[in-house]
Amino acid sequence: MTTATNETEPRHFLDVDDLSEAELLAVLDRADEYKRAVDAGDDHADLSGQTLGMLFQKASTRTRVSFETGMTQLGGHAIFLGEDDIQLGRGEPLKDTSRALSRYVDAVMARVFKHENVEVLAEYSSVPIVNGLTDDAHPCQTLADLQTIREHEDGFEGVSAAWIGDGNNVAQSFALGCALTDIDLTIATPEGYEVDGEVLERARELGGDPTVTTDPVEAATDADVIYTDVWISMGQEDERDVRMNDFEGFQVNTDLLENAPDASVMHCLPAHRGEEVTDDVIEGDRSIVFDQAENRLHAQKALLSWLLE
Ligand code: CP
Repeated sequence: MTTATNETEPRHFLDVDDLSEAELLAVLDRADEYKRAVDAGDDHADLSGQTLGMLFQKASTRTRVSFETGMTQLGGHAIFLGEDDIQLGRGEPLKDTSRALSRYVDAVMARVFKHENVEVLAEYSSVPIVNGLTDDAHPCQTLADLQTIREHEDGFEGVSAAWIGDGNNVAQSFALGCALTDIDLTIATPEGYEVDGEVLERARELGGDPTVTTDPVEAATDADVIYTDVWISMGQEDERDVRMNDFEGFQVNTDLLENAPDASVMHCLPAHRGEEVTDDVIEGDRSIVFDQAENRLHAQKALLSWLLE
């Protein structure tokens, strides 16, 4: 919480490149420490007495539960703020909501549709704003993805990743995360579903060199990690028939995995089994999707304690 007299510039986390490479690695190291602390049952109440506001305009399982559980484990508290439970749903301007929340809580996690809206929250907030997913970015997911890749591949050196499917918000933040950690990324999407060119440019400015293709086999061949996500995201349900047709050939299934004998399979969840990924692949030995889901907890705790220290 900040008052009118003690306001300082907070650090926000609206996308992965709000962190430098060194800062990202520090957060990932802390995430590993928290994971070990949970496994050992060690006390790590580093945010005792602190409160996180969680503003949700979209549904969530993992983001909501991992942030709320994380604050409990850190000795703090989290408040769920559904848009329709607060005055925002009755037309209060976002900037007023943001200013007022800053006077109560120590950080705000926001899941909003438009990326501009999380930027407005950040502009008017005197406490850190954490992006819990917008239409353009999902940086908290990327933190967990990178923690998961590092633990399964024993580091980032020499790792190659293939993104197969929609060049959506998860893909865009993942591209930035790969650039910061020197993961060699190939992105396979159908025409018309590419990662935004501006995001690719940012990835290149960070030292990455993502390859873009429309061929999922080319992307998957000899990859260490194959990552996919739903073809129909929240708010795109009306486009279902068109999208199902456009993504034909982009399913992560056993045929595709034959091109990458050592690859682990990632998915940020929720998955639509039988669409972007088959049931046998997500249940198979090479699937690390529930390690990914678990690491949301550790990575976000690390981010929050790093932002608030
Ligand atoms: N991956 C992810 O963000 O899951 P939820 O939508 O359940 O939060």
